[in-house]
Amino acid sequence: MESQMLRASLEKLKKNGELMICDVAVDPKFELGAVLKYYKNERPILFNRVRGSNIPVVGALFGNRKIYYDMLGIHHEERIAKFADAIANPKPAKLVRDGPVMENIITRNIDLERMLPTPTFHEKDSSSFITAGMLVIRDPDTGRNYISIRRFQINGGNEMSILIASPLLRRQFERLESKNKPLEVAIVLGYDYSLLLASQISSETYGVDKYEIDSALRGEPLELVKCHTVDLEVPAYAEYVFEGMIVPNKREDEGPFGELMGYYGPKGSHPIVEIKAVMHRNNPIFQTAFPCREEHLSNGLIREVELYSDVKRLVDVRDVNVTIGGGCRFHGVVSINKKSEGDGKSAIIGALSSSKDLKHVVIVDRDINIFKNEDVELAIATRVQSSKDIVIIPDALGSGLDPSHNIRGVTDKLGIDATKPLGDEGINFSRACIPHFEEININKYFPNI
Ligand SMILES: Cc1cc2nc3c(=O)[nH]c(=O)nc-3n(C[C@H](O)[C@H](O)[C@H](O)COP(=O)(O)O)c2cc1C
Repeated sequence: MESQMLRASLEKLKKNGELMICDVAVDPKFELGAVLKYYKNERPILFNRVRGSNIPVVGALFGNRKIYYDMLGIHHEERIAKFADAIANPKPAKLVRDGPVMENIITRNIDLERMLPTPTFHEKDSSSFITAGMLVIRDPDTGRNYISIRRFQINGGNEMSILIASPLLRRQFERLESKNKPLEVAIVLGYDYSLLLASQISSETYGVDKYEIDSALRGEPLELVKCHTVDLEVPAYAEYVFEGMIVPNKREDEGPFGELMGYYGPKGSHPIVEIKAVMHRNNPIFQTAFPCREEHLSNGLIREVELYSDVKRLVDVRDVNVTIGGGCRFHGVVSINKKSEGDGKSAIIGALSSSKDLKHVVIVDRDINIFKNEDVELAIATRVQSSKDIVIIPDALGSGLDPSHNIRGVTDKLGIDATKPLGDEGINFSRACIPHFEEININKYFPNI
C-alpha cells in the first residue's frame, strides 16, 4: 500500500506544512548534520542536493512529539493505551509478491561508499555511518521478526561494521558464531513512524514479532516482500534494503562515534556485515538520523508505556514524561493523583524499577505540567524537603550510554517526591489563579501590535 513507509510520510508532512526542503547543495561531511542540529532535529528536512551524489537525504523526521502523534493519527492522552494495546494484541503482517523496493536489485560490484550519500556527523567520527538503519533478523529461537535500529560504520566496498549493544542480539549472534555460522540480516532505510515505534519495543522484555506490533499500530497489515538473497522479509515500500550477513569470527575497529548524549563512544573491535545484495526503489531517498537525544523520542515513547504501567501497579498515575533532555531514557517525570501519604514514595519505587536505564525520577501532583520544565522545577523548589523527600539507591545497574555509570560500573538512582501533603497542610499549596485568565484576548489591550 502506498500509504506505508517513508514516501507516504513525506507526502503527509508536506501537506501538513512540516517538511522543510533544502535545495542548496550540502556536504554530507559535517554540513548536513549541522543543518539538522541547528533545528534541534525537530524539523524534518529533505536535502535535495547532497555533494558527491544524486540521491536526496532526509533527516530529523522523528524528533518532535507533536509531529509524531500527528503522523500516527493519535492524541497525546491516548498514546499509552494505544501503544500498550498494540503490544498486547499483535496483528499479522502480509507477505506480498512484489513491491517498489524491488524495482532495482544489485548483486555485483557493491561499493556502499560510492553508492550512498552517507553523512559523517562529528569531528572525530571514524567514518561515515548509516545511523537510521533498521536491522531485520529472524529470531533464531522463536522464528519471529526482530527489528531494531543500529548504527553501521561504512568500511569500504560491501562491508560495514555493526555495534551490537543489545545483550539479546549479541547472545543470538555469538551462539551462531560458536558454530562458525553467520547471522543473516537485512538493513532497511525508508520506514515510517509506526514501524520505527514498533522497532523500539524491547525483544527481551516482550518476545514479540515487531512486524506484528506494527500492523496492530497502523491498523492494517504491514506489507512485506521476501529478500533476494537471505531468508528474511522486509517492508515492500521501503526505500533501500541491504541484504547480507554478520560474519562469524571476524572483528574490525568501529568508532569513535558521537552518540546520543553528545559524547563520543570509544573505538572498539566489533563484528562486520557483508552486503550481498542491495534492493532499492526508483529514485531512492536516503534516510538518516543525526545521533542526538531528540532522535530517540520513539524509544522514549515506548519507555513511557513501561514507566506508566509500573507506577500504575502501585498508585493512581495520570501521565508520564521520559524527557528528551535525559536522552529519552535517564529521566522520568510522573504526575499522580495522590490519594494517600506514601503514594509519592511508592511511585518512586515503581518508576525506578521500570528500567535499568531510568536514573532520576520526579513525582509531582496533577496541578504540575510535566511537559514544562519550569512547572516541574516549581514543584521541586516548593514541595520538597530533602531530608524527607529524596530517595537514593546507591550502586544499581545503569546504562552504558552514561559515562558517569561507566567509570564505576554501577549507578546511583534518585527519586524526588515533589508531591504536596494531603489534608490541611495541602492548603498551603493552593496555586493563585486569575479567573478566566485562559480566555483573555490580549489584542483588545494592544490593538496596534
Ligand atoms: C535513531 C535511533 C538510533 C539507535 N541507534 C542504536 C544503536 O546504534 N545501537 C543500539 O544498540 N541501539 C540503537 N537504538 C536503540 C534500539 O534500536 C532500541 O533499543 C531497540 O528497542 C532495540 O531492540 P531490542 O531491545 O529488541 O534489542 C537506536 C534507536 C533509535 C531511535
